[in-house]
Amino acid sequence: MTVLFADVVHSMDIAAAVGAERLRELMGELFSRCSTVVQRYGGTVDKFTGDGIMAVFGAPIALEDHALRACRAALDIQKNVHSLEEEVEHRDHVALQLRVGLNSGGVITGEIGTGPLSYTAVGEQVGMAERMEAVAPPGGVMVSESTARLVENVAILGDPELVHIKGTPLPVSARRLLAIATGRRTDRVEPSFVGREWEMGALGGLLDRAVNGNGCVVGLVGPPGIGKSRIVREIASRATNAGVEVYTTCCESYTTDVPFHAAASLVRATTGSNGLDGAAARAQIRARFSGADEEDLLILEDLLGIGDPAATLPQIDPDARRRRLAAMVNATALARRTPTVYVIEDAHWIDGISESMLAEFLSVVPRTRTLVLITYRPEYVGALAHAPRSQTIALEPLDDSQMSQLSTELLGKDRSVTGLADLVAGRAAGNPFFAEEIVRDLTERDVLIGGRGCYLCVEPATEINVPSTLQAVIAARIDRLDPAAKRALNAAAVIGSQFSPETLRALGIEPVLDDLSRAELIDQTAFGPRPEYAFRHGLIRAVAYESQLKSDRAQLHRRLAAVIDQNDQNAVLIGEHLEAAGDLHAAYDWQMRAGAWSTHRDITAAQLSWERARQVADALPADDPDRTAMRIAPRSALCSNAWRRFHPDISDRFEELRALCLDAGDKASMATAMVGMTLENLLQGNVGDASRSASEYMAIVESISDPSLTIGLSFAAIVAKYQSVELVDMLRWTQAVIDLAQGDPTKGAMVVGSPLATALAWRGVGRWAAGHREWRDDLDTAIGMYDESDPLTQSMIITFGYGSAFVHGALLADDAALHRIEAALPIVEQSSDELARVLIRMTLGVTLIHLGAERERGFEILRDLKILCVSENFALNAVPLFDVYLARSTAEGGQLDHAVESLRDAIRQMLTTTNLTYVTLAVAALVETLLKRGSEEDLEEAEAAVERLAATRAGDPWVIRDLTSQRLRALLAQARGDQAGYHEFRDRYRTMANEFGYEGHMAWAAAMP
Ligand SMILES: Nc1ncnc2c1ncn2[C@@H]1O[C@H](COP(=O)(O)OP(=O)(O)O)[C@@H](O)[C@H]1O
Ligand SMILES: [Mg+2]
Repeated sequence: MTVLFADVVHSMDIAAAVGAERLRELMGELFSRCSTVVQRYGGTVDKFTGDGIMAVFGAPIALEDHALRACRAALDIQKNVHSLEEEVEHRDHVALQLRVGLNSGGVITGEIGTGPLSYTAVGEQVGMAERMEAVAPPGGVMVSESTARLVENVAILGDPELVHIKGTPLPVSARRLLAIATGRRTDRVEPSFVGREWEMGALGGLLDRAVNGNGCVVGLVGPPGIGKSRIVREIASRATNAGVEVYTTCCESYTTDVPFHAAASLVRATTGSNGLDGAAARAQIRARFSGADEEDLLILEDLLGIGDPAATLPQIDPDARRRRLAAMVNATALARRTPTVYVIEDAHWIDGISESMLAEFLSVVPRTRTLVLITYRPEYVGALAHAPRSQTIALEPLDDSQMSQLSTELLGKDRSVTGLADLVAGRAAGNPFFAEEIVRDLTERDVLIGGRGCYLCVEPATEINVPSTLQAVIAARIDRLDPAAKRALNAAAVIGSQFSPETLRALGIEPVLDDLSRAELIDQTAFGPRPEYAFRHGLIRAVAYESQLKSDRAQLHRRLAAVIDQNDQNAVLIGEHLEAAGDLHAAYDWQMRAGAWSTHRDITAAQLSWERARQVADALPADDPDRTAMRIAPRSALCSNAWRRFHPDISDRFEELRALCLDAGDKASMATAMVGMTLENLLQGNVGDASRSASEYMAIVESISDPSLTIGLSFAAIVAKYQSVELVDMLRWTQAVIDLAQGDPTKGAMVVGSPLATALAWRGVGRWAAGHREWRDDLDTAIGMYDESDPLTQSMIITFGYGSAFVHGALLADDAALHRIEAALPIVEQSSDELARVLIRMTLGVTLIHLGAERERGFEILRDLKILCVSENFALNAVPLFDVYLARSTAEGGQLDHAVESLRDAIRQMLTTTNLTYVTLAVAALVETLLKRGSEEDLEEAEAAVERLAATRAGDPWVIRDLTSQRLRALLAQARGDQAGYHEFRDRYRTMANEFGYEGHMAWAAAMP
């Protein structure tokens, strides 16, 4: 039986405050409320002590679950008193609170059934209950160890506390009763942990090392059911006991395509923001990432879907977002001193974006007090399986003796089951989950009777048939469920491995979960007003999912898609459900919505969504009237955005799109996609191809003559033509953009924030390159628009307004320019895409070199950039420029042969790829180096090089080429001792430089003797 003791806190003070009359009234009310509750749970009020109550459960009528009933009653009493408390507080201004204590113990026979129990009859039990009451906090319930033991599977208890009790010398253990499972719950009973000694030893050692500051990443690998999660639970409880915090994220098969899912759930777990609403969740985030940059926090909140609707998100490039998030997470991890265990469960299902984010996090783990445990199946070979300095533990099947130990524990020792134990162990082949499922199957089939650990077998072991795979056992068990329970299980499987009765109801499914809990197919994981359940094992969910009729499943997916919050964050998930439901049009719309939403958040996520949308569109029946348009749109998005990140070759995808667009006569999509193709070719260094597709798509754009399309799309073509030195085209299209923008800096903005400012910078470049005298105004106007521009535009203005002009001698580098570049650098680094980052660093490098003060630093920057671009296969069009400068540095260092070699290579490369902008520089550097070396052959080679340069793009206006040729001819004449020739060329060079106002060339010309 269980004794409940409740007492009013500070009853004397209350008496003094309200007077005897009112006190009696209050106590009367209290007593009646408590009695009602006690009776509701089948207990008996034994005594009313004036300011307290004693009740017993399990006597005089024997109730097998007396302890549980007493617990429920105690919690209900507190709830009930709480409402009274508010009333009294309001009226009498005193705090009316109860303490409740519980204790369970044996019943003294003979006393039962003879009316109210005498206090002495159960004196010892009552005494302990009274003492529990005395140590309970006001408004709380304390239970003794004996009660705790009886309810610990269903109750949520505080940690054991040692309390000193009057009259006993030794402290006794007591636990706070916090809550009880609502509804009936088959608590999770697990067999005792067998084997895994060395694994646990190793993990324990790594945990200790991590706690001491040598963080570690461990992969636990094995097939389903082998015991990965169990080991994680064991080590996690060890960690918790040692005061280490444990946070878990579980990857799920149905969220593999939901970007950021796993990482977001880990951040939510870590910050305790799970299930909180926006403002509260944000407060948690800010507490955890205290000291983080405000913009970074806004980005994080946005990605977690808890952003403040009133806040304005920083306008930055997706790549930069990712970098900043990773940097913030890593900095926080590095700064954190608290030992922590992070668990990533079932990484074989992780979504790609979380995978790369977490992989980055793993790289700093060795420098933190962190142990990261990652479980996955052997087929997973992704980034998390290869973290640097990580350990891998492959879980082998349990051995025979461990398996027989396990089966004996499950079955018991009765002679009738000993033979069966071998059968189970043999069939389960070292997989503990398989063994458990076989036993459950046998009990459900009534082959075994009794309870866990004490079964009797009613059939000869030889005649028992056990399905041969784990999946088959589970399927057989599911099959046996009654229809309502099976419906609930099936619907739950569609929802996911965690689900709530509420969601089931929303799907129109009665949440009949008791049978499922009893059958140990699911477990209740959250209690209280919003209960949650989880599949006991992923395989159970998988089998339940697969075993249902496709049409039923489709219907569930469809309904589920409708009950999920219809917002951008859920767009992918909704899309996936609709796709599974076969609603392809709707699925497509959601994926496209997700893609649009992600474009400025995470380009990889956007690409994934477009890829999904493409698959959905392709799966439409051929006679669907929207099919072509739907096949075109995601492909067009994929092609036009591909250049934003490095990625595998998209030319096949592009060709496919071109065919579709031709078929459909969809010129705009075609042109949009070709922008991507052009940039792609450009960044791969195939300038000739880029130039060709630029001409092709600009012809289309011009034929459509839609102003915003022209402004938005021409940038790729302009850059391509600059790079291939087709200045007439370049000037024509920059002119078109400037005219159409009509002075509005942001008009037609698609990629860069200010098409007008960028076009002005480009027209300036085109003009000085081609030899139009008004070039300077354009650069000045563009630079004047600098302050109001976004980072990408700023990096363009700097690169083309300053960088190119310094390189080609149109302007002289000065300190003012350097200051501006250095100031822009951190902004661009933080907030722009890879391309802008490369450009700004390149500009800084060449500016330093031309200024002369920090030449070495400039060369260093270019050297690093070259390594970066080559290794990332990115911005390869800029590499020849780096080569020229680096060769100059080599020549300055005296290694002339070396420099000549690499310049020859660079020139060859420029000519074959039509990457001609830098060819003047390369030829100048080659000629100067050859002249320094000075052999007859060198002079001949130099002459040939100059003549080839002079003939490059022959007939096109290209003053920079002409100037350079004059200067080099002067140098050649001088080397040959031809003074007259030298003077003639030098003077021509001087005149031209002055005439066009090219500061750099004027200075060089002036310096010629
Ligand atoms: N070493 C072990 N001793 C006893 N039971 C185990 C052991 N390993 C796993 N189990 C039990 O087997 C079942 C499946 O284990 P689980 O850890 O969920 O597998 P996995 O995560 O590898 O799929 C669980 O009920 C678990 O308690
Ligand atoms: Mg598992």
